[in-house]
Amino acid sequence: MKTYNCIIVGSGIAAMQLANHLSDQSRVLVITKSTRRANNSYRAQGGIAAAIGNEDAPFFHYEDTIKAGCDFQNEKEVRELVENAPALIEQLKNAGLPFDKDKIGQLALGMEGAHSRKRIVHCGGDATGKHMMEHLIASIRPTIDVMENCFVYELIIQPDSKKCIGIKAKDADGNNEVYFSDNVVLAVGGIGGLFSFTSNDSSVAGDGVALAYRAGAEIIDMEFIQFHPTLLYINGKTTGLISEAVRGEEARLIDQSGMALMKGKHSLEDLAPRHIVAKEIFHQRAAGNDVYLDISMIAKFEEKFPTITALCNKNGISIESGKIPVAPGCHFLMGGIAVDSVGQTSIDGLYAIGETAATGVHGANRLASNSLLEGLYYGKKLAIHLNKQIVKIEMDVTSFHPMKTSSLNTPLFPHKKEIQEKMMAFAGIIRTRSELEVLETWLSEYDHPSFIVNSLDEWSIENIQKLFMLQTAKLVVNAALLREESRGAHNREDFSVENKRWGQLHIVQSKNGTEM
Ligand code: SIN
Repeated sequence: MKTYNCIIVGSGIAAMQLANHLSDQSRVLVITKSTRRANNSYRAQGGIAAAIGNEDAPFFHYEDTIKAGCDFQNEKEVRELVENAPALIEQLKNAGLPFDKDKIGQLALGMEGAHSRKRIVHCGGDATGKHMMEHLIASIRPTIDVMENCFVYELIIQPDSKKCIGIKAKDADGNNEVYFSDNVVLAVGGIGGLFSFTSNDSSVAGDGVALAYRAGAEIIDMEFIQFHPTLLYINGKTTGLISEAVRGEEARLIDQSGMALMKGKHSLEDLAPRHIVAKEIFHQRAAGNDVYLDISMIAKFEEKFPTITALCNKNGISIESGKIPVAPGCHFLMGGIAVDSVGQTSIDGLYAIGETAATGVHGANRLASNSLLEGLYYGKKLAIHLNKQIVKIEMDVTSFHPMKTSSLNTPLFPHKKEIQEKMMAFAGIIRTRSELEVLETWLSEYDHPSFIVNSLDEWSIENIQKLFMLQTAKLVVNAALLREESRGAHNREDFSVENKRWGQLHIVQSKNGTEM
């Protein structure tokens, strides 16, 4: 039975940044269900937003973030995030991260949707996530245990203190392992894998939210899910991201006749906030039109966007044709596990950072390239917080036997694909009460009160993953039904405008019920 000062579940940018900033004395476990390179952070293309240009200042970054998020943010958190961004970039630059430079040797700054200025730093053209993650992975000190292909399926809550004191995990052979810790941090990413069209790594399917919810934590703002406007669309499926940085280089969305889609739809046209562009593409596609990114005006496309070029080539799309077929897909969860400003959840000893955490910085729609920034900022902030607390106390867990047997038969769950298709069709870019209710009824067929409290020790990883998907989906649908307005990424056809009253309300769900 192993004990740690800190267990980090997940291996994306927030997880690795935290691990790299925890003090050398702390015993740390990083545990991930796939490998340290299979996560959304690694796939990130665009870059990291930071107000470092001559014409820029954190205040402008703040204003753009608030505007894109429809004024639904925690302003203090946004202010701190944008004010800390330039220093975080400087630290990474000094540590050797190879940011792209312009002709005079300064950091090259890209443009993305809803930014008023060029402020996106990037690496390898459109391979920022890969470079960033390789840098963070290489910096991990050898005394940190990193376990791959271990699926965390339960948080251990001490019955008397109600404190989180560890995790249960299944290795690749399905063997159960128990690890104890003073501090457990969920950094497992979002919920893209709940939808059939997604930019996310397929492994990212709501584990963090489900684990925290099942343990009794509060979950907030689950209706706010960002759909990225441009995923590569081939043969009825999406397959990878076409970065917004491409539109930052003046690519335009067109239909099959060449008509510019965003003209007259928003003052920023193709660089309007993502929810506006995604909604427009959704309507065009629903009307039977094909949608393309016209990239014919971008000189040296292959050089600027090597990752996207490789993705297109792999899928038989020639860059020389000047057109990339696109469709929107699930990209980012703005809500998630409710946390305070250091990542503390409503359960003592349990923290959340990165996409799975709802810090309040993204509001109703995240500003482009603020997500890697969020991971860097909150990963480091939590490390500073924990470093003050981490003391060498051996936990007395010898008399604690958390494995339980269950009388419940393993249920017959639907196929993952069915969950993803239903979520995309009924809880996707445009929502209505009637469609959400159809989904709610379908989800309830697979819902049993005992699933919340039941021990999963004897369940297969596959069934637990499905259970987590269904429970997370239910939280999304419940919140999407309750919020009777359209705000940012939450679009209700039957309540199509923003309602001031709802601007003050957050939907908080826990095992004890729903509060607003
Ligand atoms: C993109 O490159 O378009 C995605 C970056 C982000 O989600 O901020």
